[in-house]
Amino acid sequence: MDRILITSAIPYINGIKHLGNLVGSQLPADLFARYMRGRGHEVMFICATDEHGTPAELAAAKAGKPVDEFCAEMHEVQAEIAQGFRLSFDNFGRSSSPQNHALTQHFAGKLAENGYIREVVEEQVYSPTDGRFLPDRYIEGTCPNCGYDSARGDQCDNCTKQLDPTDLINPYSTESGATDLEVRETKHLHLRQSLMKDKLDAWINSKHDWPILTTSIAKKWLHDGDGLQDRGITRDLHWGVPVKKGTEDWPGMEGKVFYVWFDAPIEYIAATKELTDANGEDDVAWQRWWREDKGAEDVKYFQFMGKDNVPFHTLSFPSTIMGSGEPWKLVDYIKSFNYLNYDGGQFSTSRGRGVFMDQALEILPADYWRWWLLSHAPESSDSEFTWETFQADVNKDLADVLGNFVSRITKFCRSKFGEEVPASPEFAYQDSEQETQLIAELTLKIRVYEDNMAKMEVRKSAQELRAIWALGNEYLQAAAPWTNFKTNPALAAMQTRFALNLIRLYAVLSAPFIPDASEKMLSAMKTEDNSWPSDVSEALNTLLAGHAFEVPEVLFAKITDEDREIWQEKFSGTRD
Ligand code: MF3
Ligand code: ZN
Repeated sequence: MDRILITSAIPYINGIKHLGNLVGSQLPADLFARYMRGRGHEVMFICATDEHGTPAELAAAKAGKPVDEFCAEMHEVQAEIAQGFRLSFDNFGRSSSPQNHALTQHFAGKLAENGYIREVVEEQVYSPTDGRFLPDRYIEGTCPNCGYDSARGDQCDNCTKQLDPTDLINPYSTESGATDLEVRETKHLHLRQSLMKDKLDAWINSKHDWPILTTSIAKKWLHDGDGLQDRGITRDLHWGVPVKKGTEDWPGMEGKVFYVWFDAPIEYIAATKELTDANGEDDVAWQRWWREDKGAEDVKYFQFMGKDNVPFHTLSFPSTIMGSGEPWKLVDYIKSFNYLNYDGGQFSTSRGRGVFMDQALEILPADYWRWWLLSHAPESSDSEFTWETFQADVNKDLADVLGNFVSRITKFCRSKFGEEVPASPEFAYQDSEQETQLIAELTLKIRVYEDNMAKMEVRKSAQELRAIWALGNEYLQAAAPWTNFKTNPALAAMQTRFALNLIRLYAVLSAPFIPDASEKMLSAMKTEDNSWPSDVSEALNTLLAGHAFEVPEVLFAKITDEDREIWQEKFSGTRD
């Protein structure tokens, strides 16, 4: 049994996420967490809301609420939606927690002690119209790297380059639209990432199995142009973690807070502590996940994120960890994703384009979305959501293949043998070629499925699972127990028993993708045995003759053309 630490990029607090965000981190992370738990490993799966920085301040101002109140409310909203999608976080924390304040200040203190922080008198954009310095997202302008015209002050969404507000060409205030911006002097802290360059490079070079998407982005920022640059880690904002050296004040930094991207990844650690603190456990309870001197040396740590988050997780956060000089756990594997597009364009939070997580759950249960999104995860390239493919794929995979199999065999059994697993002492699977062969085929496919799941090959895993489901239908078609029933009822009984056991097997294998349907299948089969099918033949002898079951409700209703048209229309514009 391994100990598996899994983190999903923590979503900004400022609004409800769209399906593209969901499939880019939280959902595949959940798939992996559920799979690893299903295999009997000890899992710690962490997510949180990312509550600091300008996005939070701006959204709170727009909502006309004090920022702390706004964050508390939005955290609840996001937590509830996460629950709606069955995201099985062990903790969904808050980056504004006291635990994160303390840890962030602790890391800054250690970095300063070790010479990784430089105090810099910086030229910063000041807006006389707004009467304040304008940090990152209060400014937009043209990206100096790619020419995109609404690059933000902290990062260009188009080319992913990390920016400083003063890098922008033709900048303007997003508060007032003012363009009469001035540059004034103010003191800030810089993290000396450039000193870490060779160490980071060697570390990334040692990760041969990382996705190319991850390593190529990291390499780009390590080597392109002048190479890895130092980064400002403080901001002139009120809301955030006050700048301190551990628990000491930091002279000259009064009134400033840490940059949101400095404290956000530290929240992975803090959220674990939030959990163990809430459970009244001692510090070792979270440290055994995060401190190599406290038992974390054999933890395997996996991070999930969209590609725009990769620079922060391959360079910035590791600089914080390495620079601390303390034995904190570094990530072992970074799974990153491209973007999911929406119907011929991009999903966009700012423009309200696409389907948002709350809206999705209003029209269909979580499993439909989970299955479609995961089976189309944008791994090797961007992928696209269209209502036509969504309808066609869901109807085929979930209704025609899996749902139909379950309903056909349970109904057949009920009508011929009653609602219990039929007996046939004269027939065992091993005496029959059809079943023996299917067990062999299933075994092969399940081993491939396990391998893909372990490697976080999300689409390939879905493909294999779909093929495993299809084997069930093919089996029923070929075995035709309804025909045998007339001439050889004992044979039909054995086949039915076999197929009913397949339902339980499918429930177990499918749980990481479609947890609700999986539970319905188990409860219809009246079993709580969800043990992993290490030995397929044994797994198919779990429900024995005489075991009661019931015909489940329809697992997946088909999406009609009419539904599709209504939704297509409803989600064609922008959300208000
Ligand atoms: N809030 C960021 C985003 O949505 C992700 C932060 S991930 C962490 O892009 F590393 F900072 F935690
Ligand atoms: Zn750019």
